[in-house]
Amino acid sequence: MGEKRGFSRASFAERAWLAIEKPVNAVVTSEYNPFHYLGAISIFFLWIILVTGVYLFLFYDISARGAYLSVQSLTMRQWYLGGVMRSLHRYASDGLIITMLLHAFRCFVTGRYRHWRWLAWVSGAAMAWVIWIGGIFGYWMVWDERAKLIATLSARMLENIPIFGLPLSLNFARAGSLTDQLFYIILFIHFSTAFFLFILIMVHIARITKAVINPPRVVAYGIILALLALSFMKPAVSGSPAELKRLAEAVPFDWFFMFIFPFLNWVSERALWGFIVAITLVFASVPWLGRKKRNPPAKVTLENCTGCELCMEDCPYQAISMRKRTDGMPYPLEAVVVDKRCASCGLCVGACDYKAINLPDMPEDQVKDDIKRLVAELKEKGECGKVLVFACAKGPWIEGIKDGNGGLNGYDWARVVALPCIGMLQPSMLSMALDRGVDGVFIASCAEGDCHFRKGNDWLSGRLAGFRPPVVKKSLDRSRIGLQYLSSVEGDAFIKELTAFREGLKARS
Ligand code: HEM
Repeated sequence: MGEKRGFSRASFAERAWLAIEKPVNAVVTSEYNPFHYLGAISIFFLWIILVTGVYLFLFYDISARGAYLSVQSLTMRQWYLGGVMRSLHRYASDGLIITMLLHAFRCFVTGRYRHWRWLAWVSGAAMAWVIWIGGIFGYWMVWDERAKLIATLSARMLENIPIFGLPLSLNFARAGSLTDQLFYIILFIHFSTAFFLFILIMVHIARITKAVINPPRVVAYGIILALLALSFMKPAVSGSPAELKRLAEAVPFDWFFMFIFPFLNWVSERALWGFIVAITLVFASVPWLGRKKRNPPAKVTLENCTGCELCMEDCPYQAISMRKRTDGMPYPLEAVVVDKRCASCGLCVGACDYKAINLPDMPEDQVKDDIKRLVAELKEKGECGKVLVFACAKGPWIEGIKDGNGGLNGYDWARVVALPCIGMLQPSMLSMALDRGVDGVFIASCAEGDCHFRKGNDWLSGRLAGFRPPVVKKSLDRSRIGLQYLSSVEGDAFIKELTAFREGLKARS
């Protein structure tokens, strides 16, 4: 073990990103770090957009003449509520773009987009499109000079798609040609984006077990307060009313939604479409570009499977399902792995007490043999304060671990078992190490709220706390178990905490 599936050093981009997150962890702890909840925060923004949007709709006059006035009157006369709602709607939409981009970028730099995650990635790309379209049409609805500019430019773009018969910009050629019907269509498109988004979110998280769709309360309150503060300090307002006779005037630019239009200064509409389509295709195919070799999927050993469902419950990517027993054993169900969805993370192994599921390249017996070997090595040294470390391969990176054989250079009193995910750690592995004679077991998990396989460190904490089966025995002396959640850029903290843990053990003996 170790050679095949040892520690995997994070890429330079991932380390750079995690280094940016590190100070945030130091201030708010990694459990409440907003960077760990970017998808959930995006959904939270969507809720704000939906609620405030419904309120704005109640006062919106769907007509060419009334649209501007209705929005203006809501903003000015009802500034304390309608105006705030409008600002919240605007700033939550901008916030959504920011968190969505950060979320996608984070998934990319942390390598969370390949193989079994392709559906989330591709549906994410589709969501980006829908959000962008929704925002553009939202700006149309205000019908001020900025709306006129956006309408004219987007009409020019749309005319270049063959399915649109009439030149759309004719609508904006003369005051009389602008119909109420157009405003109904705009409203319909704007509203339907919310509908499509919620459908796409269902697809986005369809293969994710217990997806985190709500940020922690304190983060949600923080967002609401920040949006309210922004809304009072810089309320969203309209420009002057759109006048079709007047030449387009300079308008405030919203880069979040209007970033595409300046390109029309240099390229034709068709060329711009070509560029947008090409970028979208490249972006959507990222999961298949430069694909890495996959580790073999988990395998069920049917004669040991009791159909208890724990592996299915714990699988973070819904790669395990249960079916009717096929081998005549006296259990109603048996586990089946959907190979394509399997992340080979070993969380199912951590959930199984019966050796019924295994990673072919890292079977449970092999891990246990390693535990026995490493504990024996430590005992041979006879030192006081012998520690066996169970470390997440995606957790703290330390050069010393590189020997690949469980040694930790310069720390002779410790040996390391690297697991693909800390969720693979079975309670029986902990007991085995302690029963066989180490003074303590130190668990080096990845950062809280940021498991590469989503749930590994959560499930482990549940097992240690005794509420997630299979549980760590109550009789196991908890003071001999150390647990630290550290990201891959916290190698120094790992050494510090490990040494402190050992000192604690020595002091007690
Ligand atoms: C409004 C936009 C978006 C929302 C609301 C959203 C929401 C979410 C949520 C709730 C999760 C599950 C998090 C978890 O429990 O682990 C998730 C995962 C994911 N999202 Fe998004 N997302 C959005 C946009 C995107 C975009 C644009 C991309 C990339 C193109 C993307 C790629 C992914 C991937 C790859 C995962 C799986 C991560 C993993 O397996 O650990 N998402 N998203």
